[in-house]
Amino acid sequence: MNGADLGLIGLAAMGQNLALNFARNGFRVCVYNRTADQTRAFLEQVREEALCAAYSLDDLARCLVRPRRILLMVRAGTAVDEVLEQLLPFLEKGDVVMDGGNSHFADTERRMQALAAEGIRFLGLGISGGTKGALLGPSLMPGGSPEAYAAVEEMLTRIAAVSDAGPCCAYMGRGGAGHFVKMVHNAIEYAFMQGIAEAYDGMRTGMGMSPEVAAEVFARWNEGALQAYLTELTARVLRYRDPETGEPLVERILDEAEQKGTGRWAAQSALELGVPAPTLTAAVTARTLSHFKAHRERLAALLPWPGPVPAAPEGFLADLEDGLNLTLLVAFSQGLWLFHEASRQYQYGTDRAEVLRIWRAGCIIRARWLPFLEEILREDPENPHLLFHPRFLEQIRQRLPGAIRARRWALEAGVPMPALGSALEYLQAMRRAWLPANLIQAQRDAFGAHTYRRIDRPGVFHTEWEETISPRPQGRSPWSV
Ligand code: 6PG
Repeated sequence: MNGADLGLIGLAAMGQNLALNFARNGFRVCVYNRTADQTRAFLEQVREEALCAAYSLDDLARCLVRPRRILLMVRAGTAVDEVLEQLLPFLEKGDVVMDGGNSHFADTERRMQALAAEGIRFLGLGISGGTKGALLGPSLMPGGSPEAYAAVEEMLTRIAAVSDAGPCCAYMGRGGAGHFVKMVHNAIEYAFMQGIAEAYDGMRTGMGMSPEVAAEVFARWNEGALQAYLTELTARVLRYRDPETGEPLVERILDEAEQKGTGRWAAQSALELGVPAPTLTAAVTARTLSHFKAHRERLAALLPWPGPVPAAPEGFLADLEDGLNLTLLVAFSQGLWLFHEASRQYQYGTDRAEVLRIWRAGCIIRARWLPFLEEILREDPENPHLLFHPRFLEQIRQRLPGAIRARRWALEAGVPMPALGSALEYLQAMRRAWLPANLIQAQRDAFGAHTYRRIDRPGVFHTEWEETISPRPQGRSPWSV
C-alpha cells in the first residue's frame, strides 16, 4: 500500500493495539518491526485492510504520505536513539516523529533539538491506559512544538478515549512537556496504588479480612468518592482465584514490587525543581524497600514492634477510606505543584486544567476526583498545589480526623503506611506557620558560615557562634506554638 497516513515502528503489545486503533478509526497505517516475523504474524492474525507492512525503514518512509508522520513504540532508552539514527537518512524536512514510549523528558528534549537541526519535528507523546487503552482509547499527552502537534492533532484526537469533557488528548506544552506530564501521571499512579495497598494491609492485618471480603470493600468504595479505574481493578484482582490452587491469586504473589523508572524520575525531578513531593517519593521508596525481602524476613524476627497490636477501632473501614482519599488528593496536589514549577522553570506553558481534563478517561489514574480538581484549577489557575482553594481544603479537612485515626492505629500496630503517613506529614508541615528550620540555619551557619536571614531586619548575617555569650532564657519564646 502506498500513501499510508502513519508509520508505526515497534510491534510489541502496545504498538500492535495502537496500530489497530488508528486503522479502525479511518487511518492507513504502515507497520514496521525489527524482526520481520513479528510483523508477518501480526498482519496475518489481525487481517485489517487499513494496515500494511514494511520490512525496511526505507520501505516504510516510501510508503507514507508527506510530510511523514511516524510513531515510535519501542522500549524507552537507547533503543529510541538507535531507531532514530537508522530512520533519519530516509526522512525529509517537515516530517513528524512521535515517541510514544515512557521516555525521560530530558532525553526527549535532547532528541527534539538534534532532529530540529535536520528539520525533523519531534513530539514526546505520553500514552496511558495499558494495552487495552491503546486499543480502545488511551489518554494521550503530546508535547513539543505547537506546529508539530498541529500536524498530528486530528489523528491523535480520533484514537483517544472520550470523556464527557471531550477527547482525552491535548497539547501539553513545549519541549519535553508530554513526557514530563506522563512521568508525573505515573508517580501519581504509584502513590494511588501504594495508598490502596496500605488500605488493604489495614483490612488484612487490622480486621483479618480475606482478599475476597476486601474486594467487596473496594467495590463499595468504587461507588463513592474513590470511584476510579484503580479502585475497580483492585476489587477485580482481589477476587481472582488461582485456577491451579483455588486460592486467591494475590496471596500467591511475591511481595516485591517492580518499577520501570518513571516514578523514580518524578521523585528526582521534584528534588531538582525544589518542589516538595514526599507522597510521590514515598510510593517509589516503598517499592524499592519491598525488594529487600530477605532483610525484612530477618528483621521481622529481630525487631518486634512494642506493645500488643491494638484492635481496629470502631469505624476503621471509614477511616481507611478517608485515609485513601486524603492520600490521593495530596498526591494530585503534589503532582500539580510539580507541573506548575516545571512549566515555569522549563517554559513548557502547560495548561494544568487541560492535563486534568485528559486524565478523565483512558488513563490509569482516571478517577471521580478529576472533574472536581479541574474545576478548582480553572477557577484559580495560579494556585500551585490547590491547597489555597477553600473547596479543596474542605475536602481535606473532612478526611483528616479519619485519616489520622487510621495512621495512629497503623503506627501502633507496626503496619507501614508510608503514603498516608507522608501525606499527613506534608499537610502538617504545609499548615505550620513556624518550622524549626531556623535551627537548621543556625547550625549551618555555626559549622560552615553558610549565613542566615533574620525575621526582625533585612540582610544576610553570619555569627561567630563560639564567641557568642548566650543570654539566659527568660520566659516562653514568642515563637512557641
Ligand atoms: C500507563 C502506565 C504505563 C506504565 C506501567 C508500568 O499509564 O499506562 O503508567 O505506562 O508503564 O504502569 O509502570 P511501572 O513498571 O513503573 O510500574
